[in-house]
Order: sequence, then structure tokens, then C-alpha cells
Amino acid sequence: TEQKNIRNFCIIAHIDHGKSTLADRLLEYTGALSKREMVDQVLDTMELERERGITIKLQAVRLNYRARDGREYVLNLIDTPGHVDFTYEVSRSLAACEGALLVVDAAQGIEAQTLANVYLALEHNLEIIPVINKIDLPNAEPQRVRREIEDVIGLDAGEAILASAKTGVGTEEILEAIVRRIPPPRGDREAPLKALIFDSIFDSYRGAIPYIRIVEGQVQKGDRIRFMATGAEFEVNEVGIFTPAPRQVTTLAAGEVGFLSASIKNVKDTRVGDTITSATRPAREPLPGYRKVMPMVYCGLFPVDSEQFDNLRDALEKLQLNDASLSFEPETSVALGFGFRCGFLGLLHMEIIQERLEREYGLELITTAPSVVYRVVRTDGGVEMVDNPTALPAPNLIDHIEEPYVEATIMTPREYVGPVMELCQGKRGTFLNMDYLSEKRVALKYDLPLAEIIYDFFDQLKSRTRGYASLDYEVKGYRPAELVKMDILINNEVVDALSVITHRDQAYHRGRALVERLRQLIPRQLFDVPIQAAIGSRIIARETIPALRKNVLAKCYGGDVTRKRKLLEKQKEGKKRMKQVGTVDIPQEAFMAVLKVG
Ligand code: GTP
Repeated sequence: TEQKNIRNFCIIAHIDHGKSTLADRLLEYTGALSKREMVDQVLDTMELERERGITIKLQAVRLNYRARDGREYVLNLIDTPGHVDFTYEVSRSLAACEGALLVVDAAQGIEAQTLANVYLALEHNLEIIPVINKIDLPNAEPQRVRREIEDVIGLDAGEAILASAKTGVGTEEILEAIVRRIPPPRGDREAPLKALIFDSIFDSYRGAIPYIRIVEGQVQKGDRIRFMATGAEFEVNEVGIFTPAPRQVTTLAAGEVGFLSASIKNVKDTRVGDTITSATRPAREPLPGYRKVMPMVYCGLFPVDSEQFDNLRDALEKLQLNDASLSFEPETSVALGFGFRCGFLGLLHMEIIQERLEREYGLELITTAPSVVYRVVRTDGGVEMVDNPTALPAPNLIDHIEEPYVEATIMTPREYVGPVMELCQGKRGTFLNMDYLSEKRVALKYDLPLAEIIYDFFDQLKSRTRGYASLDYEVKGYRPAELVKMDILINNEVVDALSVITHRDQAYHRGRALVERLRQLIPRQLFDVPIQAAIGSRIIARETIPALRKNVLAKCYGGDVTRKRKLLEKQKEGKKRMKQVGTVDIPQEAFMAVLKVG
């Protein structure tokens, strides 16, 4: 297809504002199979394919559209992942497009999380087409939302399209706007190949399959290609497009979007953001912006039932096939037995993986408190990267500890500036600057320790701003800090899985709050159970869980059998997420309690 007839775009929207529904309308209108039909159609094979470790992702789809000007256009819709942990992936998807639809719910207005992505899109010089969706709703306020788009984002909303993805109103107008307002791609098709990887999947027959936007040059079957970040080389077996079903084509040329397969064994070779070039006629420089994604947050995952260890390993391996940013290695805990230390891009990523392990693989897991990666400088001059409090060297071997810092941008309506600043200060933040984005909206920049952000920062930010603030951050490097390891002793034994690294100034407060919380969470036993927080051998907080009173138990001795059975069953249920540590049963919540006592 000639470049002047191609348009590459994505959809930016807050969750529930109608992105999927609108995409369906566009697919339907242009005669492509609707996403949901597609899912229905392939569902039968999907069960099977899932067993082989394939997930079908509809990340890019080609639409053919005959516009009012009588010409046939190819419109490539590229999906963007929806949350903060994947900012980098979002930015790569945006880099593959020339324009974006900004979908805003006519009853809700602009929501915080949409903003960060709009700014990312503006940074990439994307043409943004505002679409005010759900105008069929009785409480729709398209005029108010129009003003908001102008005030908050500073976009001209005069040409915003009023639409209802539900009824189909506005669909054609959106397609026309894509053709008229988004510029066509302009890559040199004779130049050496430069293809941007914006996503990839793993297929057990064809290997890792990168999803690509050709920026310059072209690629076809039989070509020898090179991944510029890793240097790995392969021969192309097929190139194709998504209709949305994958379909082979002979060539992909500058401006086009599709996939290629090349018997690539490992998804790690197809890193998002990397540039694919020709091995025989390589480009001099890769496309800008590539970054190797590193896990930022680590936690331990342990099966409740230790027999499930191998199943957990299998499940993690399968998930990793489609998620190169997930890392894991075996870990042994005195308290919890055998499990894995896993690395994630952020807290949400961590929660998603946990949920998938439990839902899709039926595993019951104990998760330990997340930790960032510390840089430990030893007295002998050596440097260790430590992602697990239990791996911290003995205090006398440590010269100092450094922790990762981020530059955080928080956008908030101006009336919440006070509470947001208070929050940042309480989290050891350093104020950098403040900008008025409009009369009503402010952007605050702070330096903050990443460790503070992964605790309850986001929740607190949301509750202090009624959900209207958005947070975005970028890791800026390491800084020394007064950090100490705090241990928790239960019944006089250190429970390694409960240890955390914390700032010395906060240790006392955190220790206090944590033992109090644990006292509430750990069920009473037949004996008194002391709970202590300690730094080294110094106890900084203590609580005691009093023993169960005898007469409570006495009730179930002898007497009514059904009652006794009921009680036993109840206990069994309650035990589900418990791990016996020494002589004490500790519930799952206890291991995450540290998150709630920021
Ligand atoms: P995620 O997939 O969770 O990111 O949400 P989404 O942004 O893709 O939203 P989705 O398309 O799933 O729509 C969210 C809800 O809004 C669904 O219940 C839709 O049926 C409904 N919806 C979408 N568009 C419209 C519309 O134009 N009018 C009305 N009344 N409802 C709509």
C-alpha cells in the first residue's frame, strides 16, 4: 500500500470509557471481523492453544476503509496497554503511530490516568482526535467534557467528535477524521530496514513473534534480519498482517504494521522497543528510545502446599513466554519453604501475575512484601544488588546502602495541591517544581524513593485527590540513605519472610504499626504469642496475642458432634491461606501487612 493511503493510530482511553466497544464498531464498519466475534470464533481452539502456552492477543489490526474522497485507505489500529507499570510499552506503541483517538466518557469527563498517556502522545508528536463517547447516556454532558479537554489538556476540542460506541453514532465521522487529520507515514522504502518492535507473543510452533511497525525500508520472507539491541540474527520465515486473523503477505514496507516469524526461540530476543534491521544491509543507528526493561519490584511467591512447587515453576515459565519482563528464580525461606523470588515492572504487574497464577493455574500462594533493589556497598569496597531483605549482608560488612530514586510527576486539580505535597513530604520526597497546566490543573515534580511509591503511595494519592491525580515516574538513579533491616519475631523466632528494609527514621513507626496489625491478623493459639519488631538485637516494638481461653475449646469436647464437625470444618477453611511457621499459623494477609502500614 502506498504510504499516502496508510494511517496508523491507537486509542487512548480510561478504563470503561469504551475503548473496546469503539474498536468493535470500527472493525464492524470496515467489514473486519469484530473483536468479540473473533474471540468467540477462536475460543474452541484457544483452550487447546492455552495448554500449549499460547495466548491470542489482538494488539494490532488492519482495517480497510473507503473514504468519502473515494480512495481506499489502510488503517492500522494499534492497542496500548492500560496502566502505569507499562508506560514504556505504551510509549513504544505510540511511537508506532502518527495519531491517536482520545476517547472520553461524556458522563465522566477526563480521568487522571488518561492524562499521562495524552502527554506521552503529545511528546511523540501524535495528532490527537478527541472523541466524546457515550453521548446516548441521559447524564451525558458533552459540552462540559469539551471544555475540560480544552482546559485540562489544552487541546482544541472544537472538532471533538460526539459519538456513541453503543449505538454506532459518530463511527463514520471518526473514520473520516482519521483519514483527514492524521498524517500518513513518511518512511524511505529504499533505505536500510528499520522496524520498531511494539509487542511480541510466543507461539509454540513458530516461536517468538514480534509485532512491528516498519519505519524505513522493507522486509520479506527469506531476508536475514538482525535485532539491534541483542545482535541476534535470524532468517525470516513469514511476514504478515492482522485482519485481525493473522494473514501472510509478501512484503511489509515502510509505514506498514504487521508481524514476522523467524524461528526465534526466546521472547527475550524480541524486546519491545528494539529495532530490527537487515543483517546484510544494516541501518547505521537504531530507532531512538530503546530501553531495556528491568524489574523494579521483587517479592517472594511460595505455594501454600509445598507439593505445588513444581506446578508453580511450570506456571511461571509459561507466563514468562509471553511476558519477557517477568523474572524469577528459586528461593528458600526458613518460614515458608521453597518458592520463587520474582521480579516485576511494578506493583500492578505483580498483582496481575499473582492473579493469573491463582486463577488460570489454580495455585494457592503466599506472597511476601514487595521490595525494591538496593545497592549495597560493602566495607571491603564490593557492591551487591540486593532485592531481598534476607539477602542483606551482616551490618558490620556494610559501608552504606543506596536505594533507587524516581522523579515523579503528579498532575492534580489545584485544590488538592496541599494534600499532595503533604503526602510527598511524608514519603521522604524532595520538591522540585510546580507548573500550572491550566487554571485548574497543576503538575508537581518530586524526587521520591521508589520504595515509598511501591507501598501505599498510589492508594493514598487517589484517596487524597478523590481519584483525580495521576502519577507517572521515571527511575533516576541511586542515592545513599539510612536504611536498616527490620525483623519480625513471632513466638521469639525471626520469620524471615516478614523482614523488610526501611528507613531508620521510619523504622520505629513502621515496626509499631506492623506488630499491631499482626496481632489483629494472626489467630489466637493455645498459648500466648509474642510479636516483636527488631533491628539487629534491639527490640523496637512488642505486642502479645493472648492465648485462647480454655472454656471456648471446652465447648467442643464431648457434647454435640455436628457442632464439633462444623467447628473443625471452619478451622479447615480458615486454614486455607495459612502457613504454619514454627508452632504458629500465619495467614497470607500477614505477609502483606507491611504494605498497609506505610
Ligand atoms: P476496558 O476494556 O476495561 O479498558 O474498558 P474499555 O475502555 O474497553 O470499555 P468497554 O468498551 O469495555 O466499555 C465499558 C462499558 O461501557 C461497557 O459496559 C460498554 O457497553 C459501555 N459503553 C461503551 N460505549 C458506550 C456508549 O457509547 N454508550 C453507552 N451507553 N455505553 C457504552
